[in-house]
Amino acid sequence: MDDQTKAPLTTKTLVAQTPGARERITGAITQPIHMSSTFLRDPDNRYPAGYVYGRTDNASVQQAEDLIAKLEGAEEALLFGSGMAAASSVLLALEKPTHIIASKVMYWGFRSWLREIGRYGHRVSFIETSDLDAVRAAVRPGETGLLWIETPSNPLWTITDIAAISEIAHAAGAILCVDSTVATPVFTRPLALGADVVMHAATKYLNGHSDVLAGALAFAADDQATARIRQIRATHGMVLGPFEAYLLIRGMRTLDLRVRAAAANAFELAQRLSNHAAALAVLYPGLPHHPGHDLARRQMIGGFGGMLSVRVRGGEAAAIAAAARVRLWKRATSLGGVESLIEHRASVEGPSSPCPPDLLRLSAGIEDVEDLWRDLDEALRG
Ligand SMILES: Cc1ncc(COP(=O)(O)O)c(C=O)c1O
Repeated sequence: MDDQTKAPLTTKTLVAQTPGARERITGAITQPIHMSSTFLRDPDNRYPAGYVYGRTDNASVQQAEDLIAKLEGAEEALLFGSGMAAASSVLLALEKPTHIIASKVMYWGFRSWLREIGRYGHRVSFIETSDLDAVRAAVRPGETGLLWIETPSNPLWTITDIAAISEIAHAAGAILCVDSTVATPVFTRPLALGADVVMHAATKYLNGHSDVLAGALAFAADDQATARIRQIRATHGMVLGPFEAYLLIRGMRTLDLRVRAAAANAFELAQRLSNHAAALAVLYPGLPHHPGHDLARRQMIGGFGGMLSVRVRGGEAAAIAAAARVRLWKRATSLGGVESLIEHRASVEGPSSPCPPDLLRLSAGIEDVEDLWRDLDEALRG
């Protein structure tokens, strides 16, 4: 693709073509990995290309950021060494003690971090953010500066109304940050719905091959707050490495195909599990009985994602025993890779978690759905 192309491109085309991938010296259609950690100064004491040092500037990282910005319809995107580093930079950028409203059900690692944020002078209210009245009631005028939501959210796949929450946030003078890791830019574009910042654990679907740790922020505006986060990333040394950026670009080239294949498998498995004698409940926003189904149909365009959970009849011990019996599914944490993963989530999240003890979290991969089903069915039957 000509880098000068101006016509709007679909996600499918954008990722496959990876704008900017053509290397100008040789005409190579993929970029070299820019490993240099430092750059030459000219005799006139300037840096001719603007690159100074690897903690602030790296062309491979920028190439991946450009693609993520395009996918999210963002003014700017920044990459970090992990999803947690990306999320943490937003908190580190708060300029004064701030009241934060966060989803009660969300990725447990970040929730645990938020629970400790009081020591930095901030206060957090964990709210069921799918309940808009509860969010409105939690807003403290003049104090609430950040609303943090995850949708669909771990591990119940609760859906939060991004457009409605962004209105509440902006009316309070606060910003809205959306962890869109599970939805991916294939199914949801939070900035177009009014969010200020989109966060991705790029470790998951964006990379998609379980071989990179990375985090991304995409910003509606390249303003002072964005500049502050860029500065924090540099001073705290949170930037992604160039080799990981290269792998991330390579992974993203098949993002659209992978995510749609995983979502199709998740949808089929959720339906079959709903009729399984060992399943007490199946949690998947694509199922009509899921509390967030109607909203998900409006907000997630083209699919409901590749994540689902099943509550196993017989409680915690039965759930752990079922997970122990799988042979094809991999018993491992994380999500969003091409291989299917299964995990007893309460064992990871500990006693403070809203996760039911009988819940198994499933990350559907892109394998043949019949193979996945046979293994899961046998494991649940015991
Ligand atoms: C939804 C979500 N957000 C954030 C994170 C944190 O990402 P990372 O593990 O790359 O730090 C994860 C990791 O599991 C996640 O699932």
